[in-house]
Amino acid sequence: MGRETVAEIVGTGSAVPERIVTNFDLEKMVDTSDEWIRTRTGIRERRVADGNTATSDLAAQATNRALEDAKLGAEDLDMIMVATVTPDMNFPSTACLVQDKIGAKRAAVLDIGAACSGFLYGLSLARSLIDIGEYSTILVIGAETLTKITDWRDRNTCVLFGDGAGAAILQAGKGKKGILATYLGGDGSLGSLLNLPAGGSRLPASHQTIDEKLHYIKMAGNEVFKSAVRAMGNSAVVVLEKAGLSNQDVDLLITHQANLRIIQATAKRIHLPMEKVYVNIDRYGNTSAASIPLALDEAHRNGLIKEGDISLLVSFGAGFTWGSVVIKW
Ligand code: ACO
Repeated sequence: MGRETVAEIVGTGSAVPERIVTNFDLEKMVDTSDEWIRTRTGIRERRVADGNTATSDLAAQATNRALEDAKLGAEDLDMIMVATVTPDMNFPSTACLVQDKIGAKRAAVLDIGAACSGFLYGLSLARSLIDIGEYSTILVIGAETLTKITDWRDRNTCVLFGDGAGAAILQAGKGKKGILATYLGGDGSLGSLLNLPAGGSRLPASHQTIDEKLHYIKMAGNEVFKSAVRAMGNSAVVVLEKAGLSNQDVDLLITHQANLRIIQATAKRIHLPMEKVYVNIDRYGNTSAASIPLALDEAHRNGLIKEGDISLLVSFGAGFTWGSVVIKW
């Protein structure tokens, strides 16, 4: 049965904090080097939010740019989804805070907890809600202030993360363009390899959890790396198959920006040359749920996405979670 409507992206926006922290700045804080960080990860610098900026602030800025791009007002939004692991607070949800900030009074509000895959989980859900006719206009945001949950004395993790936000607005289209296929997956048995142990109902905040630094990101980097390479490669293959497309059809691959070597491995798995891969990890590091919408917005604004193009988005994150989306523009 053919689908009558195909949810399409009608506007994108992004925002990053002004402050840049380079690898050379980090050399002064922990035992590391620009050379180690660049060759192991591809990162040169990252953005860091100041003490007055929370995730919802970056999310609202990105949203305002996306609304402008789509030529829509906040009151046009039927639903707001925010993918984040760094909400302003446990509740209300960051989506509620964004709704209030931008004045989207009609919108339903929902946060998505799928770590770095959250934006693609959001796109997939939004597409389904639009396809069944439940909502017409949905805002999906990926926004993070990871530097607030980063242990700046741990060289294993502090060199990796950065802050930012990206947003996309989806509406029902009638043509053949839009989101052609999505694929989502996860493996909860590997959750302990990448987590933030305390602050929830398992280990509520206490003097002990603070002394033991359990409110910071913990990651078994090497294990995560291997799973990311495997899951992202597979996700790319599966979603192309679902869309009835081959690697030859892909004009631009945008993956989660966690490590340049993971991005290269994903491209290699589907035999795509690096000229067709968008990379901005050098400037932002790993911004978790924000990384794909931030890259998507940059690629869009830089004219790298043209009408009729096929983009392939692929993510992997804590959970573990993974996902992929094929879009025709
Ligand atoms: N500077 C210098 N040396 C370092 C640093 C640093 N910043 N960090 C680690 N090292 C050392 C380690 O201590 C280790 O030394 P040892 O051999 O003496 O013990 C050595 O470098 C090698 O460490 P590895 O962990 O084997 O290095 P690897 O090549 O795996 O790179 C990295 C580490 C960059 C973390 C990589 O594993 C990675 O990118 N992992 C995946 C991260 C990811 O994909 N995350 C996705 C989701 S993120 C999210 O959901 C928020």
